[in-house]
Amino acid sequence: MNEDITDVIEEVLISEDEIKSRIAEMAEEIGRDYHGKDLCVLSVLSGSFIFAADMVRALKIPVKVSFIFASSYGAGTESSGKVDIIKGKGFDPKGLDILILEDIVDTGRTLTAIKKLLLEEGAKSVEICTFLDKPERRVVDLHPKYVGFVIPNKFVAGYGLDYEYRYRQFPFVGILKPEMYEQRGSCVEEGN
Ligand code: PRP
Repeated sequence: MNEDITDVIEEVLISEDEIKSRIAEMAEEIGRDYHGKDLCVLSVLSGSFIFAADMVRALKIPVKVSFIFASSYGAGTESSGKVDIIKGKGFDPKGLDILILEDIVDTGRTLTAIKKLLLEEGAKSVEICTFLDKPERRVVDLHPKYVGFVIPNKFVAGYGLDYEYRYRQFPFVGILKPEMYEQRGSCVEEGN
């Protein structure tokens, strides 16, 4: 990267070590809850690709892994309110116990739309496991079963979360410097 991390990040909100130990705890809990079941974890792309990769490797129970694409923010910080969903090739939710792996729940619109689609297509059960949760921003009634970290309403990036498709590669979660998006005319109250 040409940019120094300190040019972009105001503060590290969640460190790499904190992420690692929280994922181990969550994996243990999920393993207990789904013991003996035929679990399918569904990674919501793009944001959850790092969380999902770490989570499936931390799980001690056998799982099927599938993918779904969902997007509502595009390149900016403001949700369009409309959720585009594309299922991975060959993925059929019918009869499956599904655990959705998501990087962040913000307004809750994305997960509400995905959950609805999966249930309409015959999933046996659908639960949500999110790495981050911003309950302050919720506009729909949605309560993930597993939450890694509850965070304040700040614009964060790293560990899969992007700003304009960048910074997903940071191994930690950082609060983005306001000048990063203010200079582009966006608003911190919107988006993740
Ligand atoms: C982000 C994130 C969630 C969604 C949460 O996706 O990955 O899917 O927003 O927001 P909501 O609760 O307000 O619906 P985004 O549309 O930015 O796409 P990305 O995963 O490709 O970054």
